[in-house]
Amino acid sequence: MIQSLFTEEQIHDRVAALGRQIDADYAGRSLVLVSVLRGSIFFTTDLARRITLPLAMDFLSISSYGEGSEGVVRITKDLEESIAGKDVLLVEDIVDTGFTLKYLLRSLQSRNPASLEVCTLLDRKARRIIEMDLKYVGFEIPDKFVVGYGLDYKQQFRNLPFIGVVHPGKL
Ligand code: IMP
Ligand code: MG
Repeated sequence: MIQSLFTEEQIHDRVAALGRQIDADYAGRSLVLVSVLRGSIFFTTDLARRITLPLAMDFLSISSYGEGSEGVVRITKDLEESIAGKDVLLVEDIVDTGFTLKYLLRSLQSRNPASLEVCTLLDRKARRIIEMDLKYVGFEIPDKFVVGYGLDYKQQFRNLPFIGVVHPGKL
């Protein structure tokens, strides 16, 4: 069973607001959206269409082994282009413990972008282990596992147009 947490309309409105905020903050500049596959795919493409600045998009893919503090992250598909000297906005689906983001930011920062900020659709603060500075957050969520709008449970449910809470016992 999947219980709706944010409707399609709520997501649409929030993404539009984020786009306006990004437009204002980066006025007069151009941006590289770096999307983390696969979870942030729908969020990235919707957000990109709400930003009116000159914009490039690039994608990377990661895999994580283990859980929580034992989690080891590895880039399995890297960016196609250099981000040196560019204003980079990293687009994530959800920040949980913060380990994935910490790893990604370290990797991207080492490539000397002009600036590097984070835009995450969801922020689950309750489970944070590594404090992260998240410039743009779509929604803060309670300590529940969520799916839809790109997020999966065992690779399913990414295509749900809304975001919902999974009750694994009742799937
Ligand atoms: P972190 O390294 O603990 O912050 O984990 C973040 C990653 O775990 C996200 O990018 C997601 O891929 C995955 N993840 C964490 N929580 C959820 C969830 O509730 N639903 C689906 N994926 C999740
Ligand atoms: Mg992710």
